[in-house]
Amino acid sequence: MRDAGRTLPRNDPRQYDDLAGEWWRPDGAFAMLHWLAEARAELVPAASRPGALLVDLGCGAGLLAPHLAGKGYRHVGVDLTFSALEQAAAHGVTVVNGDATAVPLADGCADVVAAGELLEHVPDWRRAVAEACRLLRPGGLLVLDTLNDTALSRLLAVHIGERLPTVPRGIHDPRLFVDARALVAESARHGVELRLRGIRPQLTGVLAWLARRVRGATGAAGPAPRIVPTWSTAVLYQGRGVRTG
Ligand SMILES: C[S@@+](CC[C@H](N)C(=O)[O-])C[C@H]1O[C@@H](n2cnc3c(N)ncnc32)[C@H](O)[C@@H]1O
Repeated sequence: MRDAGRTLPRNDPRQYDDLAGEWWRPDGAFAMLHWLAEARAELVPAASRPGALLVDLGCGAGLLAPHLAGKGYRHVGVDLTFSALEQAAAHGVTVVNGDATAVPLADGCADVVAAGELLEHVPDWRRAVAEACRLLRPGGLLVLDTLNDTALSRLLAVHIGERLPTVPRGIHDPRLFVDARALVAESARHGVELRLRGIRPQLTGVLAWLARRVRGATGAAGPAPRIVPTWSTAVLYQGRGVRTG
């Protein structure tokens, strides 16, 4: 488990600079983001037209990129953090330094908008949802995953999770977690009927991964834990919806 290199307030984006070397380590501080990126990409169908654009809001170091390979999208990533964008660019993402609440891209430009593990980091997540919907063309697809604003989510993701070797300490501010019903309502206000499902890492995969780490083996030496659907959206959940209007 690694802390951010200096003492910064919870959710301070500068933590991503301190952790820049962790992004692409399969057993590093952002390991779970790799598992989640794979699960998010499974919600994205192959592009329906040549030149289709996928806008990845809060793209970080572009962990979604390898999972989109062969699907036919031009992958544009928007993020606040330069050090992450440099790495995303090295993985084939066309990068835009910007804020997900004021994205410098045209209305309706995107066939798909992805917002993976972003909204729970944005103080005005409603504004980011409005931007995601604005970017989508009619018929375009929104896919996202985030943490719910529940006591269970705060317990698992912050009070327990940030003590495990999978989540850096201080990376979340639990006050920003995103109420699932409010997210559905906000998306609907902007023309996207979002369907949610709870997700979680598969327990056996996580235990095997942890055992490999304890033995000092790299996470790459075995399969990454799968993210699987679960009955409750109370902690981690995915959303998927098409822009109708
Ligand atoms: C938990 S990481 C997720 C990165 C990536 N989506 C993934 O799943 O690998 C959150 C990312 O959101 C970015 N971020 C936070 N607030 C943002 C904002 N308002 N606008 C754009 N990016 C933001 C951070 O710089 C960081 O790269």
